[in-house]
Amino acid sequence: MQHASDTRQSNIVLALDFPYEKPENRQTLLKRAEHVLESASPYVCAVKLNHHLILPFGTFNGVEKLVEKAHGMNLTAIMDCKVNDIGATNQTIAEYYYEAGFDALIANPFIGWEEGLKPIFDTAHKQQRGVILLTYMSHKAANEGYGQTVCDLATNEKTPQYIAFAKKALTYHADGVVVGATYPKKIREIHEILRDEIPIFTPGIGTQGGEIQAAIRAGARYLIVGRSIVQAPDPAEAAKKILETTKT
Ligand code: XMP
Repeated sequence: MQHASDTRQSNIVLALDFPYEKPENRQTLLKRAEHVLESASPYVCAVKLNHHLILPFGTFNGVEKLVEKAHGMNLTAIMDCKVNDIGATNQTIAEYYYEAGFDALIANPFIGWEEGLKPIFDTAHKQQRGVILLTYMSHKAANEGYGQTVCDLATNEKTPQYIAFAKKALTYHADGVVVGATYPKKIREIHEILRDEIPIFTPGIGTQGGEIQAAIRAGARYLIVGRSIVQAPDPAEAAKKILETTKT
């Protein structure tokens, strides 16, 4: 990821998300996805896929080709599946996504380590892939979960949930954490804990209201951008402008 970012001089992760399409339009959807990926590729370092394409096409029938295409352009491919189940199920989910070629997947730390996250990390390490953990989401209600005050069972210390998750990300040796660009103060607090050890990926730029410069100043390393590029009349131009803004 860092290598792709350095060589491409970009820290933008393209979220290749499209609204629902009826079955009869799905081949057009796949072509559109390929087109946006190709057009935006000079300005991004990675592509992030979500259920928007996995659900209509399936992992090995369309999505795998997009991942191959991304790799052909030296882009990192991330699966935003927010894994959130018991360990045995998580392991299977991870095995399928890594087999489809994804370099990293996103998981939800609320499930905890033993029989939760551990099987995902074990699978990732065996295949030399990455695991990125949610730490504070970008939407309005994020505070209901990630913002709660929790009590550490071992020390009895009270702490915000997202701070506890950031500390755990260090313990688990996560490859990245996700913090919403809509909450730059949270990015700053989390960055103070992680420093340069674990990069912060930040979604919520543009359409959700997050600001590029504020997120970067607060310590975000990678910007996840979807609709502001994908739904722009000219995705290449939109990606180029966003990239330029990151450098001003
Ligand atoms: P937009 O169109 O808002 O797309 O630029 C953002 C993309 O990022 C996903 N998203 C998140 N993923 N943690 C994540 O792991 C988050 O807090 C978060 N917020 C948004 C969203 O699903 C879309 O793919």
